[in-house]
Amino acid sequence: MCGIIGYAGKTEAVNVLLDGLERLEYRGYDSAGVAVVSPEGKLQVKKSKGRLAVLRDLLQESDSLVGSIGIGHTRWATHGEPNDKNAHPHVGQDGKIAVVHNGIIENYLEIKNYLIRKGVTFQSDTDTEVIVQLMEYYYKKYSNLMDAVYAVLNRIKGAYAMGILCSDYPEQMLAARKDAPLLIGYGEKENFIASDVTALLSHTRTVTYMEDDEVALITADSVQIYDSDRSPVEKEKHIIAWDVSAAEKGGYAHFMLKEIMEQPEAVRKTVSPRITDGKIVFEELKEAVELLQNITRIYIVACGSAYHVGMVGKYTLEKLLHIPVEACLASEFRYSEPILGESALVIVISQSGETLDSMAALREAKKKGSKVLSIVNVMGSSIARESDYVLYTWAGPEIAVATTKAYTTQMVLLIMLGVYFAKQLSRISEEEYDKIMVGLDSLPEKIKDVLKNIDNYQKTASRYFNHSSVFYIGRNVDYALGLEGSLKLKEISYIHSESYAAGELKHGTISLIEPGTLVVALATYAPLLEKTLSNVVEVKSRGAEVILMATEETAKTISSQSSELFVIPETHPVLQPVLGVIPLQLFAYYVALNRGCDIDKPRNLAKSVTVE
Ligand code: F6R
Repeated sequence: MCGIIGYAGKTEAVNVLLDGLERLEYRGYDSAGVAVVSPEGKLQVKKSKGRLAVLRDLLQESDSLVGSIGIGHTRWATHGEPNDKNAHPHVGQDGKIAVVHNGIIENYLEIKNYLIRKGVTFQSDTDTEVIVQLMEYYYKKYSNLMDAVYAVLNRIKGAYAMGILCSDYPEQMLAARKDAPLLIGYGEKENFIASDVTALLSHTRTVTYMEDDEVALITADSVQIYDSDRSPVEKEKHIIAWDVSAAEKGGYAHFMLKEIMEQPEAVRKTVSPRITDGKIVFEELKEAVELLQNITRIYIVACGSAYHVGMVGKYTLEKLLHIPVEACLASEFRYSEPILGESALVIVISQSGETLDSMAALREAKKKGSKVLSIVNVMGSSIARESDYVLYTWAGPEIAVATTKAYTTQMVLLIMLGVYFAKQLSRISEEEYDKIMVGLDSLPEKIKDVLKNIDNYQKTASRYFNHSSVFYIGRNVDYALGLEGSLKLKEISYIHSESYAAGELKHGTISLIEPGTLVVALATYAPLLEKTLSNVVEVKSRGAEVILMATEETAKTISSQSSELFVIPETHPVLQPVLGVIPLQLFAYYVALNRGCDIDKPRNLAKSVTVE
């Protein structure tokens, strides 16, 4: 979704802003812009529809923007089509104040009508413009920028992260946040704001996360943060462990491929710090063990791929813990009156830690008395901060819109959590526990083995990339994997795809199978192998072409079922889906590559979905 960068320092702001915007490109956007204030107090703005290259050209054609204080934005349209006038920054009609904004102002129409009655002329169709026009209106009234900012914040409803410049204050940048991420970066005689830490990594790794209702006043030499009563607040500074190379392509054609290849290391970093003397130890959960005794059900709540991890978790945790586990779509959860309270544990899974639906589900769960444990990749993100317990996936920054290494590490961590809880509750035998530990230990190496077959996935993809419809079928955890394989394919290659529990196909969807339809049949879940194979026979007899995925052992006996085989190494059954997803990621990647798609930034998609 939209990205914000802001700079107050000693060098030319426009270069820092463009660099920051480039690093935010991965979030998905349709227009971009910058505003810089010169030392003499001239507010200069350039913005345009399209990719950053268009903005760069525009900046080259015109006089350069002079000044060492500025704000920049990449916009993902919500209110108003993507065009030049709707791009940020927006400027008030007196040309004094410029604002960049992420989020949605819910009462913008009411404010817009009020301002129109006061004689304000609007330039854009956006909700954001009401912020800046209202700010100028109050600025005229109070002759003080901070007074105007607080007056606006008291009047607007909705979510916002914003950066503000005013030509009368050429050394200051202001920032405010509510329900949308915003952080401050500290440098040497320079300070920054950003909606995402990756925009700052090339300048600083020392940051503070702004909380809801806080306002920051930033200059090159100082940062002061105020709460909603305008009292100064002291904030903790955090050092980000990620380095800038982690957010660069490092020779790969796409971030997605790089991130797929990073999975052995990401899994190792996620698993190994949590193993001591052959046992899983979650330092983060020391105080949660007591709580476990009273838990009678678990909800795993997430969106998209993270929800698919939750589906794997449902099957796995239920088997390990013998208590009901439900995987819920976060966008449905809070409107479905789930049975919450002290006896329910809610596990929220989110790479970004900022997904609005997941955040809302978390708040609902806490309000109704349930404890929330989150599995999050981005340190200090909103979901991490508001949860009772947090387990971080140490996947490093994930830049490709389609998740891969975050998905895999989320799954590993969720399975480890299930095993850990099962041990605490004495619901797993020593023997079984030890076998899983052996499996965990060798998991990174086995992922490497799957990746060695990359040529096979590439070849298969080049045979099938022209298909217009692809079905994924599987049972139990294979069904959950199919959902993820299908999502990966459709989001980056734009091929229509469906995923079904293999046994469900006969109840309607099999009518869509015709000669030449491609079916990816997942048969890694050994207890239901025979049943899945009968479903394969059913689709083949209707003319489908089948890619079959199986483990090394079963592949020996079932290779006659299909000429296209994806074979993965054996591991402990609870860990098998971690290996199973990798061929599906690579297949989707190479299909999209063959189709010439914009793999890292698929159309209409955003990396972090901060609107409902
Ligand atoms: C798909 C994908 C999305 C995310 C979903 C949740 O490849 O990346 O489906 O999984 O938007 O995002 P997070 O995990 O940031 O909450």
